[in-house]
Amino acid sequence: MTTILVTGGAGYIGTHTDIELLNKGYDVISVDNYVNSSPVALSRVDRITGKHVIRYDGDVRDPQLMDRIFTEHHVDWVIHFAGLKAVGESVAKPIEYYDNNLGTTLTLLKAMKKHNVKKIIFSSSATVYGKPKKLPLTEESPVGGTTNPYGTSKVMQEQILKDVHVADNSWTIVLLRYFNPVGAHESGLLGEDPKGIPANLTPYIAKVVMGELPQVQVFGNDYNTPDGTGVRDYIHVVDLAKGHVAVIDHITKPGVFVYNLGTGHGYSVLQVIHAYEKACGHKIPYVIKPRRPGDIDACYADASKAKRDLGWEAKLTIDDMAASSLNWQKKNPQGFRGAKE
Ligand code: NAD
Ligand code: UFG
Repeated sequence: MTTILVTGGAGYIGTHTDIELLNKGYDVISVDNYVNSSPVALSRVDRITGKHVIRYDGDVRDPQLMDRIFTEHHVDWVIHFAGLKAVGESVAKPIEYYDNNLGTTLTLLKAMKKHNVKKIIFSSSATVYGKPKKLPLTEESPVGGTTNPYGTSKVMQEQILKDVHVADNSWTIVLLRYFNPVGAHESGLLGEDPKGIPANLTPYIAKVVMGELPQVQVFGNDYNTPDGTGVRDYIHVVDLAKGHVAVIDHITKPGVFVYNLGTGHGYSVLQVIHAYEKACGHKIPYVIKPRRPGDIDACYADASKAKRDLGWEAKLTIDDMAASSLNWQKKNPQGFRGAKE
């Protein structure tokens, strides 16, 4: 039996990954302090799969807790999702962001080393590429030039993990650079549940469709893109989750492996709004606003390496992303707040 420890296993990408792992017959342990999630999400994973996620409620930065988990279980792989991820908040709270993102990684690695568990998948981000000089972005594109502590913490964590492999080449280090994860589980029981007014585009659009916010703010229409609005590589969270299973199924040797997880296609802000209009069946009001500081014109992946090595590619479309996200939002207007199971 293969056992996977998922840090941040109650979060948005974590829960969708728990499901794919359980469905493949893996045992799943989640450790989460619910700073940006709810234990209800894990109950829903159990409900969807008919299986059970073993839970540890606590902070990955707690060395005693991590020691206990590795003592109580034989862990084969670790998937490290736990961290803080709001770009704007990271600018205002650099100490908290570096503390959490670097602290979780270091405490986790110390526990893994002590217990001789040497296989880790790390949630990195396309943000590590900074402002792209050339598109699409390949895994060899230059890294750095990040403009906020969140992005910089990802670059630093990648470096820490690479250095661990330099010191001991029996480690398997997999750095997955996610593009823009969106969408929700088809059951409508799981999805993205940001606190307060969403900072990201698709949860914001969903709130406008629900009538909770008056209109979408389109940040800039003078970018160097076909319609002038920002272009990103949106990937369905279920496809993204499957990418983690593909890593576990295909990577059998030690080394450092880097993969872009994206679709390879860019969509503009207006194209995304149109996909949501199609999904809800009516027009969505929007207003053009000035550019958001730090944003880039366009960002999309060359996703061919993951296809070649892992046999993985994103299958779901932008329409699937919009429809599933609205299905989740309609069934859970308050997200997990107030939900009982
Ligand atoms: P999320 O906030 O939904 O999930 C992160 C989980 O980690 C949450 O459940 C949170 O409670 C938990 N957590 C945070 N700090 C913790 C700590 N110290 N101890 C224990 N648990 C802790 O975010 P997500 O969208 O699922 O992202 C997962 C990972 O993927 C993050 O590392 C994020 O930076 C990365 N990522 C996300 C995106 C995105 O747009 N969603 C893009 C690129 C990379
Ligand atoms: N946008 C709007 N209005 C909004 C929000 C966003 O027009 O209300 C635009 C942005 O300007 C950008 C696009 O929509 O052109 C996407 O913006 P998001 O905030 O949804 O996503 P980002 O590409 O800025 O960043 C996201 C995550 C980062 C991650 C990055 C790459 O927030 O954590 O994708 O993976 F690093």
